[in-house]
Amino acid sequence: MSRVAALILPLALCGCAGFQNALGGDGGEGANFVRLFVLFTAVCTFMYLLVMAGLLAAVLRRRRNADELTVDTGKHHESAPLVTRALAAWAILIGIGLTALTVASFFTDRSNATITRDPQLSIKVTGNQWWWDVQYSFADTSKSIRTANELHLPVGVRAEVTLESNDVIHSFWIPNLAGKQDLIPGRVTDIQLVPRKTGMYRGQCAEFCGVQHAHMALDVTVESEAEFDRWVAAQQRVAFAPASPVELSGYKYFITRQCSSCHNIAGTQASGTVGPDLTHVASRTSIAAGTLPMTSANLARWVADPQALKPGTNMPTISLTEDEKRALSAYLERLK
Ligand code: CUA
Repeated sequence: MSRVAALILPLALCGCAGFQNALGGDGGEGANFVRLFVLFTAVCTFMYLLVMAGLLAAVLRRRRNADELTVDTGKHHESAPLVTRALAAWAILIGIGLTALTVASFFTDRSNATITRDPQLSIKVTGNQWWWDVQYSFADTSKSIRTANELHLPVGVRAEVTLESNDVIHSFWIPNLAGKQDLIPGRVTDIQLVPRKTGMYRGQCAEFCGVQHAHMALDVTVESEAEFDRWVAAQQRVAFAPASPVELSGYKYFITRQCSSCHNIAGTQASGTVGPDLTHVASRTSIAAGTLPMTSANLARWVADPQALKPGTNMPTISLTEDEKRALSAYLERLK
């Protein structure tokens, strides 16, 4: 039974498709890698089948020779030139195959270098245990924006992502768009993204970085340039002011208690920088780097007990009264 399960379970991997798929080819670099992968697989499969065919032919021949041994005619000695010819053809094929793969790799590299030349958008992503700090810089620095755990990209636009880390080594990976790149403390690395299809994708830290490594995801939205510009304009606005008494009481709690020493909310006195920027937290699709989908209920659960939902996170669980929980999550929900 367990043997059958072991044989069947890998089939589940065939389900690796959709928004987190290394063979999606939805980015310029990703598409080049997929083409190269298909070529390598095709050439290697062809070679493998040839070897197996040769092996089978040898086994059958050997069996026939054994049958004929009783009336030895010296026939099997005649096969020597055939073997030599087969081996020569095989060596030539290997030469051609390896050369083709080397040339294809070279041109893929060249193509990747070309499509990512002259970036039009500059983004800095900083890895933290366990969330992504995302900053967009524009020519007019007063327009620069900061968000967390989400990346918006205009389709067809070459974006250069500069990568840094505040603690340990992380790895930036949006499988559909491009390969992986490490974020190394004390060093600056970069990766170029050229998304070719609009849609939602999932990025994931791809280097084990501590107990919550799995909860270090990045929501990626590839959209039209007009939609991207609208998103940027919305992010550039300061946070919405509390509109109801319960939101106001959440706001007061936030700026006078621990929250504001870690988090920034533009337009308020909360200006902490060690935690994610919350100016427009409610406009994001997930909470705590993909730990929970963004809903009112989840926001309330997260505020009430982050340590239970993401053990080890730097956000402490603070004992709050029911009223404080309700007020805080109501205020955060206001921050669209
Ligand atoms: Cu960060 Cu794994």
